[in-house]
Amino acid sequence: MKSVLFVCLGNICRSPLAEGYARKVVLENKLDIVIDSAGTGNWHVGEAPCENSIRVGLAHGIDIAYLKARQVKKEDFNHFDLIVALDENNYRDLKKSGAKNLVKLGDYGYKGKDVPDPYFFDGFEGFEEVYKMIEICVNKLFSVNSQIKDKV
Ligand code: 4NP
Repeated sequence: MKSVLFVCLGNICRSPLAEGYARKVVLENKLDIVIDSAGTGNWHVGEAPCENSIRVGLAHGIDIAYLKARQVKKEDFNHFDLIVALDENNYRDLKKSGAKNLVKLGDYGYKGKDVPDPYFFDGFEGFEEVYKMIEICVNKLFSVNSQIKDKV
C-alpha cells in the first residue's frame, strides 16, 4: 500500500478528518504512503472542511483547516492503491463507478459500521464519536496491512 484515498459524500466532514488523522500517523511513523480524500458528491468542491470537523481535529492536535474539498474522479481508481469508503452508500456509489481495491473503513475494528454522516447532526455532538471511530479504524487499517504492519 503506497497510496490511500478516503471517500465520503461531501468531503467536508468525515473524509477530511480521516485524511488528517492518517497524515498524522504517516508522519509520526515515517511511512511512505500518500494520503488524500474526496467526496462522491460535488456540492462542496473547493470548500474547507466543516467547522465542527476542524474543531474536533484541533482538539486532537490535527489541523485540517487548509484542506479543500474535491470530487472523486475515475482516474483516482487507477491512481490510488486503496480506496476507503466511510459508509455503505459511499461504498456502493464507488463500486458502481468502477472503484477497485475498495474497502469500507468500519470493517477495520468497528464490525462494518458506517461512520455516521455528521452533516445533519445537531451541533458539535457526534463529532467526537466520528473522530474516535476514524482513529480506531485508521490505526487498524494501517496495522493489518502487511507492508506497514511492523511500522505502526
Ligand atoms: P461528509 O458530510 O460526507 O462527511 O462530508 C456531508 C457533507 C455535505 C453533505 C452531506 C454529507 N451534503 O448533502 O451537502
